[in-house]
Amino acid sequence: MPPIDTTNNPTYSPGLDGVLAGETALCHVDEGEGGLRYLGYRVSDLADQARFEEVAYLLLFGKLPTRKELKDFTTQLAAYFALPAPVEAFLGVAPPAAHPMDILRTSVSLLGMTDPDTSDNSHDANVRKAIRLMAHIPLIIATAYRLANENLPVEPQTDLSFAEHLLYLLTDRRGDETAKAMAHVLDVSLTLYAEHEFNASTFSARVTASTMTDLHSAITSAIGTLKGPLHGGANEAVAEMFIEIEHCERAERWVRAALAHKQRVMGFGHRVLKKGDSRSAIIQQHAEALSRICGDRRWYEIATTVDRVMQQEKGLYPNLDFYTAVAYLLMGIPRELYTPLFVCSRITGWCAHIIEQQDHNRLIRPRALYTGPPTRNYVPLDRRS
Ligand code: COA
Repeated sequence: MPPIDTTNNPTYSPGLDGVLAGETALCHVDEGEGGLRYLGYRVSDLADQARFEEVAYLLLFGKLPTRKELKDFTTQLAAYFALPAPVEAFLGVAPPAAHPMDILRTSVSLLGMTDPDTSDNSHDANVRKAIRLMAHIPLIIATAYRLANENLPVEPQTDLSFAEHLLYLLTDRRGDETAKAMAHVLDVSLTLYAEHEFNASTFSARVTASTMTDLHSAITSAIGTLKGPLHGGANEAVAEMFIEIEHCERAERWVRAALAHKQRVMGFGHRVLKKGDSRSAIIQQHAEALSRICGDRRWYEIATTVDRVMQQEKGLYPNLDFYTAVAYLLMGIPRELYTPLFVCSRITGWCAHIIEQQDHNRLIRPRALYTGPPTRNYVPLDRRS
């Protein structure tokens, strides 16, 4: 295709790179020293000091919860620790080889058919739906995985934190010191994954929500968007790469060969954060600590070698997905569940954006730069050669 003449369209930006496409009070992506902030709170402080449930509450209610509000919130979540019958039935017949993200997308679509508030787009109804989704999504992922792998079902537990519960649902682990350390790192990763401004899946959720359709439809769009390897699917792809590399001694050769073949190395680069992703340093520190606790430094050493070569050769920095994959490998979480795990967290950011969009809605409908043929006359069917 010839280069596009943008003379008359100086604001055109392929891939909407650098375009301000709307407003949000939820999240500020600061490319400089400031790092990422959720409603003004530094994400580094939240990762250090808050539990993921507090972060979820902050995004959905616009403020940090008091102790009582947090307790009520977790009680509300636990009240939805059972899946509606049509979703249970679907999980029982879903093709065992289907990707968990596809199963999740269809399950969320089904949840929209059973939710009592589906057609109510009011602020309060959207918050209620968000809480139900936050409770249901981990159960969907765990149930689907267990059915596909003929594992015994697990009973949801109400005496665990969100991260401890998630770890238990996906790996059966709970209680011992290693499980506690894993749940802590999982909690940090959930906080870091919760929200990131107008990333591709959030933007697709907002576009869908801007037609004033229902929240579940917008979340279904977002899940489909997150699945791609250039977005949320990268964490699974990073783990695949580590498994393929296998030993630290092979890592440098492997990356150099990948770059020589013009392959993208997953977990590097970012559309906005060209000077590095502040979230990556946080999860790297936790991944290293967990490697020590688990007595298994293999994945961490492969990762640091790949990281060094990528910075030397391409000037590219790891994004959040890169060292998160190290942590999830150590936890023994099946790698096809890494992107669904991202959903367990980002559901909060998506819902907060949908609520914000619908509370102050204007239909999102941009224009396109036309690149097709000039106007031509219609040729009737029998005169076409
Ligand atoms: N591995 C190798 N090269 C990469 C790269 C990667 N992960 N990411 C970007 N590049 C290179 C591109 O090949 C391109 O080089 P060129 O100019 O010589 O062609 C240059 O860097 C710019 O890339 P571009 O695709 O234009 O940047 P973008 O802003 O559109 O892409 C991503 C951002 C995230 C899509 C991209 O960095 C990527 O594909 N990363 C891997 C997937 C990933 O980790 N996704 C999670 C994102 S949070």
